[in-house]
Amino acid sequence: MIVIQRNTDENFTSIRAIAAAVWPIAYSETLSQEQLYYMMEMMYSIKSLQLQASEKKHRFILAIEEETVLGFASYEFNYSKKPKTKIHKIYILTNHQGKGIGKAFVNFIVNEAKERHQKGLILNVNKRNKAIRFYESIGFTISNEEVIDIGNGFVMDDFVMEKTI
Ligand SMILES: CC(C)(COP(=O)(O)OP(=O)(O)OC[C@H]1O[C@@H](n2cnc3c(N)ncnc32)[C@H](O)[C@@H]1OP(=O)(O)O)[C@@H](O)C(=O)NCCC(=O)NCCS
Repeated sequence: MIVIQRNTDENFTSIRAIAAAVWPIAYSETLSQEQLYYMMEMMYSIKSLQLQASEKKHRFILAIEEETVLGFASYEFNYSKKPKTKIHKIYILTNHQGKGIGKAFVNFIVNEAKERHQKGLILNVNKRNKAIRFYESIGFTISNEEVIDIGNGFVMDDFVMEKTI
């Protein structure tokens, strides 16, 4: 059985390992090697993850099956001081995708968000990411587009997607 649990590892070992395994596959057609490494360092160094959890109040959850971590997600309540919960990250090991784990993560986040009187979920997704179909299938719609300068000459070319809860 797959269970969703909060991450308690301050070194984010499983999260870093899953990101390192999934990112090169998920973004092979979307991002250059250089941008991929740059973003991995920016978002998944231990220091960066600790900062996200402590100062930015991102909550990290894991999908676990028999002590093996198969995926992770992170989210933040009251994003931009609005009653919206932002899903910052959601990544599942490639050979465990399509088994309902992504949906289970979003359901978990919806329940948490409702308890905190949030009115909706919001996230950014690369315009060329197949995950757009996943989000659409669970009730998200595109609400905006954003080109975000992330430094070093790189940009993120995203759709903003939202779902009312
Ligand atoms: C996107 C991702 C999180 C989805 O999680 P998942 O566990 O694979 O998805 P689920 O099995 O929960 O799928 C839920 C629904 O979405 C649909 N779906 C999932 N991926 C899809 C895709 N690529 N295209 C179309 N539909 C898709 C499923 O068919 C399912 O529909 P159903 O409930 O009607 O059967 C996961 O595939 C992943 O980690 N992808 C690579 C990393 C990534 O791109 N993350 C998102 C960054 S913004």
